[in-house]
Amino acid sequence: MDAITLKQQAAEYAAQFIEPGMVVGLGAGSTAILAVRHIGYLLKTGALRNILGIPCSTQTEAEARALGIPLTTLEEHPIIDVTIDGADEVDPQLELIKGGGGALTREKIVAQATRREIIVVDESKLVPPLGTTWAVPVEVIPFGYGSQQVYLESLGARVKLRPGSSGLPYRTDQGNFILDCNFGPIADPAALGERLKRRTGIVEHGLFIGLATDMISASAGGIQHRTRTPSA
Ligand code: A5P
Repeated sequence: MDAITLKQQAAEYAAQFIEPGMVVGLGAGSTAILAVRHIGYLLKTGALRNILGIPCSTQTEAEARALGIPLTTLEEHPIIDVTIDGADEVDPQLELIKGGGGALTREKIVAQATRREIIVVDESKLVPPLGTTWAVPVEVIPFGYGSQQVYLESLGARVKLRPGSSGLPYRTDQGNFILDCNFGPIADPAALGERLKRRTGIVEHGLFIGLATDMISASAGGIQHRTRTPSA
């Protein structure tokens, strides 16, 4: 079974947790967009009604508008009932690396405002420790980004400025740069996340710690639905 089919299965499974009257976070990336399209389909057919979406990126917003999904903002609705979003890596504790699509800051703002954060992935995203296959995206203000690069290297990362189109650096929806930081397998993602947050000029990083409540992964063997074990 190809990856798109698996992503589609995970996305459709997650949509069953959306109920009428809910405010719904609409994630970014190829898997989350499949969920957005499925929500659009459910609304169109009348299988779902009376929801409001909050998109995690300008691209998702454009897609949602084209599908006719009614949208709102965090100013009008500061608490989101359910968000469906993708991830680049998921570890056994449901901690994540996100931001492969560059939307990590808005995704994290939406996730921290969300009661139920459902992550949809195909099985290729499941890793033992975070950092096994993916670099940690770090969004930085363009001013002085060279000094952030040196700082990130001092923490042990191999750092690459994410390229955009026409030979220019990639720009996030906020107009910032992304430094992709390959730390290798990360022993303590929460501690690393704290160190990254302390640095002025770093806007946000792609380590999502304690935010996912549910993870739905699809493989040829079927759907696996895991929920976060409440900490003691
Ligand atoms: C967007 O910035 C990301 O966090 C995506 O959710 C993540 O990169 C997963 O994307 P895919 O579903 O396209 O693999």
